[in-house]
Amino acid sequence: MAPDNLQANAVSDYVKFLRDTSPYINTHRGKTFVLALGGEAIAHANFTNIVHDIALLHSLGIKLVLVHGARPQIEERLKGSAISPQFDQYTRITDSATMVCVKDAVGSARIAIEAKLSTGATNSPMHGARIRVLGGNLITAKPLGVREGIDFHHTGEVRRIDHKAIQRQLEDGAIVLLSPIGYSPTGEAYNLNYEDIATQTAVSMGAEKLIIFSTSGGVKTPQGDLLKMLSLNEVPQCLNVLKDNVSLQHALMACYQACENGVLRGHIISYEDNGALLTELFTLEGSGTLVLKNGREVIRQATIDDVGGLLELIEPLEQKGILVKRSRELLETEISRFTVMLHAEGMLVGCAAIYPFRDGVSAELACVVTHPDFLNRGFASRLLAQLETQAALQGIRQLFVLTTRASDWFKEKGFVDSSLDELPAERKSLYNFQRNSRIFCKNLV
Ligand SMILES: CC(C)(COP(=O)(O)OP(=O)(O)OC[C@H]1O[C@@H](n2cnc3c(N)ncnc32)[C@H](O)[C@@H]1OP(=O)(O)O)[C@@H](O)C(=O)NCCC(=O)NCCS
Repeated sequence: MAPDNLQANAVSDYVKFLRDTSPYINTHRGKTFVLALGGEAIAHANFTNIVHDIALLHSLGIKLVLVHGARPQIEERLKGSAISPQFDQYTRITDSATMVCVKDAVGSARIAIEAKLSTGATNSPMHGARIRVLGGNLITAKPLGVREGIDFHHTGEVRRIDHKAIQRQLEDGAIVLLSPIGYSPTGEAYNLNYEDIATQTAVSMGAEKLIIFSTSGGVKTPQGDLLKMLSLNEVPQCLNVLKDNVSLQHALMACYQACENGVLRGHIISYEDNGALLTELFTLEGSGTLVLKNGREVIRQATIDDVGGLLELIEPLEQKGILVKRSRELLETEISRFTVMLHAEGMLVGCAAIYPFRDGVSAELACVVTHPDFLNRGFASRLLAQLETQAALQGIRQLFVLTTRASDWFKEKGFVDSSLDELPAERKSLYNFQRNSRIFCKNLV
């Protein structure tokens, strides 16, 4: 390809990408996301890119609470001080000497994050971002105490999150950064688990999302296939499979608890892959695993607010001549005929319309479409099954469909060959001989 054409293609890809992201930008604006970053993520070479992406989310009006860990940094300091790390299973036992290392490591990790978020050099993607990072004594902690004879000393657990103070800082345009140390009313500092802080913060703030950066980039099947979406009832089975991956198990558990307690979505994404956060939030496909209370897609009656999404879905097919052209005005008038299918993230990924005929017992099924990124996942089959049930409940006994490209699909769904003569007169008179669509019908029982 000539360099000019290459450049033109790159520009049009860029423009398309920006346009495709606009529905997500609108959806996410003003929402609260809690991001959990372990010490491993902070130490990774990709961390600078993650910070740039966090700055971008902030510029797009998303309210962000960052919760960081510092496990590897603590380990490093313990090694340097010749103190042996002590654990009871996964929980660190923080004696006084260890607590000195914890404070040192957590303080340094916090400074590293604050410094990166303060970057403003002209040659950096953060130029002009001017982010204010706030924090403080926002977490009240209590000691784990002595359990089964083991004294955990300065290891604590979250007692309370000052969500009102966090909310005020977010409203004021700041990013809130929470470190894994909490304070008790007796004036003690406790070493806390950052995933626990992130979960409880997300729950207490009624956050839209809890996003956990993990090394694995999501939950995978034993064959290595990424599970893009999990509903809560699928999580226990996955936790069993993840027995050997404790950190992913903890991330999944955190998402589970958050969603079980009112957070709308939990995400597990990679801290190693450049752009994983943006891909997860601004594309239909995502990059990691999404955990939802009520998983899977939603099928519902279309409303006037869906017209824009419907146009985006069907226009490319109209341009290819697969569907007949419907103007915005026509869609607005006929919106009550449409049923839409929404991806669990709220994006419109499918539609179909039913036009009842005057006889009251037959109808035309039209505009059955699945978004190209979501083909062959049973979306249209589930939509059709639901529409058939609804139609039957409304007394419709026969469904007609006119199609140029999807004959076999409809036949597999029980539609049989029909003809122009069998179409009710009102539809027959509108038949477009130039399109030469094939006609099928199905009796609903
Ligand atoms: C037809 C359409 C809605 C199917 O959507 P979908 O969500 O991928 O459908 P499902 O996942 O329920 O079914 C997929 C199965 O149907 C098959 N299939 C999909 N489109 C087909 C077609 N046009 N002809 C024959 N089979 C088709 C797939 O190969 C797959 O079969 P497999 O599971 O054996 O591999 C989608 O291809 C589409 O949007 N087409 C363009 C619009 C159109 O022509 N609509 C019909 C006129 S109103």
